[in-house]
Amino acid sequence: MAQPPRVLRTVPTLRRALQPWRNGAIALVPTMGALHRGHIVLVREARRRARRVVVSIFVNPTQFAPSEDFASYPRRFAEDMAALRAEKVDVVWAPTPAAMYPEGFATRIAPQGAAVAGLEDKVRPHFFGGVATVVAKLFTQVRPDFALFGEKDYQQLCVVTQMAKDLDLAVKIVGVATVREADGLALSSRNAYLSESERAVAPQLYRVLKTAAADIKGGASIESALTAGRAKIELAGFALDYLEARHAHSLAPAASRKDGPIRLLVAARIGKTRLIDNIVL
Ligand code: PAJ
Repeated sequence: MAQPPRVLRTVPTLRRALQPWRNGAIALVPTMGALHRGHIVLVREARRRARRVVVSIFVNPTQFAPSEDFASYPRRFAEDMAALRAEKVDVVWAPTPAAMYPEGFATRIAPQGAAVAGLEDKVRPHFFGGVATVVAKLFTQVRPDFALFGEKDYQQLCVVTQMAKDLDLAVKIVGVATVREADGLALSSRNAYLSESERAVAPQLYRVLKTAAADIKGGASIESALTAGRAKIELAGFALDYLEARHAHSLAPAASRKDGPIRLLVAARIGKTRLIDNIVL
């Protein structure tokens, strides 16, 4: 059995541990824990790119609204450690809330562009400010050469990529394709909230995305494919937040394939659970 990764909880111990590794590349995989196969695929991609792999586990309070599931968000540190040990991860960066946000903390990154595209931000206006702030802090704490993010959270990937570019951060952002269950449902820590009957309906989201993408590629207009997709999602029993076609980088609305590379993005609620997904066109 591999050695357990070292668990570090303060910025000075983290800096001391990483310093000797600066001559080889370091890859960071930011997570909020409750790790599943999707996270592990990011870890393996990190390993392919760098000699040292750091996984952060921090349930970031600033990206949750008071009404959201911060308190009940799944926390499974022991299981996460077992999985990361098996992956031979070098360091698990698991700062305490006080290490991340000390008393008097007063600075927040305010991302624009993709962060205000009218998708996740419409429903969760606090979200990308919280994500950008914590990810910027993770980057300055760990100073990784690579950072891995899942395409599953596509708007987040765009926001982080833009932030790294805008702030000249010396990190290469790597997007990793969404890992899915056999029936197409994107893996997510929040899938654990689904009842059996909700779980049976959940893969419908990806099916609708695939059909809409195929229809558009086959010559249907974007608007007609989206209208049909929206109806199918609501008929399946979801409360739809959005199903949209956007430019793949800026996330600006896209009315036709001439507008450049396009991504279809969806968010919908089933019972108490909110699911998101997306597909390349
Ligand atoms: P979390 O939801 O734990 O996700 C951590 C990373 O795993 C993200 O980059 C996410 O896109 C990726 N991921 C989740 N499910 C995936 C799947 N099915 N396939 C591929 N990748 C997947 O996203 C966050 O945490 C936070 O917002 C964070 C970036 C850590 C900032 O707090």
